[in-house]
Amino acid sequence: MTQDIQKRIQCLIDEIKHHDELYYVLQQPSISDAEYDKLLRELKNLEETYPQYKQADSPTQKVAGRVAKGFKKVLHKTPLLSLDSLFEASEIDGFDRRIKKDLNTDHVEYVCEYKFDGVSVCLIYKNGEFVQGGTRGDGEVGEDITNNLLTIKSLPKKLTGTNIPKELHLRGEVLFLLDDFNAFNKKLIEDGQDPFANPRNAASGSLRQLDSSITAKRPLQLFSYTIMHHSDDFRVQTQAEVIQHLQSWGFDVGDFHPVVKSVDEIISFQTKFEQERDKLPYEIDGLVVKLNNLADQIKLGTKARSPRFAFAYKFEARKEQTVLENVALQVGRTGAITPVAILKPVDIGGVTVSRATLHNFDYVDELDVRISDHVRVARAGDVIPAIISVDLDKRKKDATQINKPHLCPVCDSPVIKEKASYYCTNQLNCPAQVKWSLVHYGSKRALNIAGLGRETVDLLIDKGMIHNCADLYDLKKEALLNLEGFKDKKTQNLIEALQASTNQPIEKQVFALGIREVGEQTAKLLMKRYISFEKLRASTEEDLQMIDGVGPEIAKSILAFFENKDNQDMIERLKKAGMFSTEFITTSQKTPLEGLTFVLTGELKAFTRSDLKEKLEVLGAKVTGSVSKKTSYVVVGENPGSKYDKATKLGVKILDENGVLEMIA
Ligand code: IVH
Repeated sequence: MTQDIQKRIQCLIDEIKHHDELYYVLQQPSISDAEYDKLLRELKNLEETYPQYKQADSPTQKVAGRVAKGFKKVLHKTPLLSLDSLFEASEIDGFDRRIKKDLNTDHVEYVCEYKFDGVSVCLIYKNGEFVQGGTRGDGEVGEDITNNLLTIKSLPKKLTGTNIPKELHLRGEVLFLLDDFNAFNKKLIEDGQDPFANPRNAASGSLRQLDSSITAKRPLQLFSYTIMHHSDDFRVQTQAEVIQHLQSWGFDVGDFHPVVKSVDEIISFQTKFEQERDKLPYEIDGLVVKLNNLADQIKLGTKARSPRFAFAYKFEARKEQTVLENVALQVGRTGAITPVAILKPVDIGGVTVSRATLHNFDYVDELDVRISDHVRVARAGDVIPAIISVDLDKRKKDATQINKPHLCPVCDSPVIKEKASYYCTNQLNCPAQVKWSLVHYGSKRALNIAGLGRETVDLLIDKGMIHNCADLYDLKKEALLNLEGFKDKKTQNLIEALQASTNQPIEKQVFALGIREVGEQTAKLLMKRYISFEKLRASTEEDLQMIDGVGPEIAKSILAFFENKDNQDMIERLKKAGMFSTEFITTSQKTPLEGLTFVLTGELKAFTRSDLKEKLEVLGAKVTGSVSKKTSYVVVGENPGSKYDKATKLGVKILDENGVLEMIA
């Protein structure tokens, strides 16, 4: 009987995984959603009745239906470090000398690799099967994007070849090929949507979709370059061998990894890579130079955020010449008026650029740029293209000056100049400021109101349905249903997303208000200090300035915001809608097991020990291998080892599996 149940569970898991592959990867589902849900339900029921047969990587653990409800967190076993960037030959020379001195040798080898310009991910394989993948996050904790990674065709779901360690944690980069990126952006523009600024943003946006079926439609590519951790059943001595292994297991690794012995060679390969970057079908933004010998890498160790054995040697930003055809004035959320260059479209390293920033009018003066001038435009991977110089030799006689704004280009209100920027003074009624404030309010980094994008905000403003963020909560379903494109589901989703926004962390609610000078970090600092919104509102300029990171300008701006009568009315209405009712939750509350140490012993039923370890660590606990007086709890499964005896002897608290499950819950 039990064997039959186990068999049925395995059969369901295999079948569901097969349909996931058809649906997400091949985009050719062979069964209906209802049939798929039936399989999933059967599996869930069996797992609930027979938890002892529940598998850690069961599909029921990964997806809620086919749309995940938000990303779980993953705690990286080894921190995902970044790299120091070196620019000058002398710096590289210094790096080489230090390494030789620290290792007490005159001869070292380096591997030069492409620096893929994409999104960093970690990939975990167990027994050769891909089981989990995450974003880098803050280096220690990232987001579990396993389902999205599963949609990437070049990600080996099962490793091929030999010499595969039981457990393997890799690092790689997800990116868009340039052709795919251009085609994808073209389609977005045709569909009336905003294109992505560069392939990296497109890759990042695609990977962070909660609905994997959206990611599946994006042609993402994966490259792998490092083993971060492996089980003891594997030996490897150099980074060059690592790359060979990765390739033999089925990963794309890029096609050029010269091993060099001198700084001169590094520099000449940088020149070579730079010349060749335009021939590659994807973006690289430099070289990564790594010490080849892995034992030496370990000897050198790491600093807080970067290793001592590697560095990035970045290319300079790409530049191309084109013509400045016009200058548009853009009014942002804070009323700042930004001159934006409208360019004769130009291909810069595979990306068509037709707009570039001119930053502000002081910069326009400094460059002395005029309409019809030939200009040089620079595009670094993650930076908005910018005009960096003017070719004065090519200036035409009739080149026209760029006028400074006397009135707001959107609402004709007077403007004022503050530092380098001009601002529209009609803060509460300028349509551009209102629009961008509302877009900011609903943006991912603020209240993450799905469905409140630019187009919807435009439509709601146009129809006179909203003027500020408080109006959002008065929107009625019936009125929304009358709008073009608003069907039942879309309307319901927006209403629900608005309701959910009132439960967002208080620091996000404060950031969403768009108080000048109060960015994400400042909002966090403020709420950490005041805990509740009302205490923040009651703060004084002096008190605000006591906070490290809050200077006189920020303090003044906060006070001015709260003193404004219109803002006060708006806040009262927002409060009625349920906003500002929660208090700041400290990190230690988010990681409730912080400070506790666990030891695990014996066989567990519901999960493997390493899964439980991961779960406890995500909640802030430490999991160690030996029991001491300092151990907070010993989790005891079936047939425990000597750790159980030691715990009893030392009087350490014992938890059985149910006990630890309760604690986690
Ligand atoms: S090695 C401990 N190798 O560049 C070594 N990184 O800050 C960590 N990157 O976040 C990285 N290509 O996302 C390495 N061949 C390569 C890479 C690479 C791209 C990214 C990686 C990292 C960033 C450097």
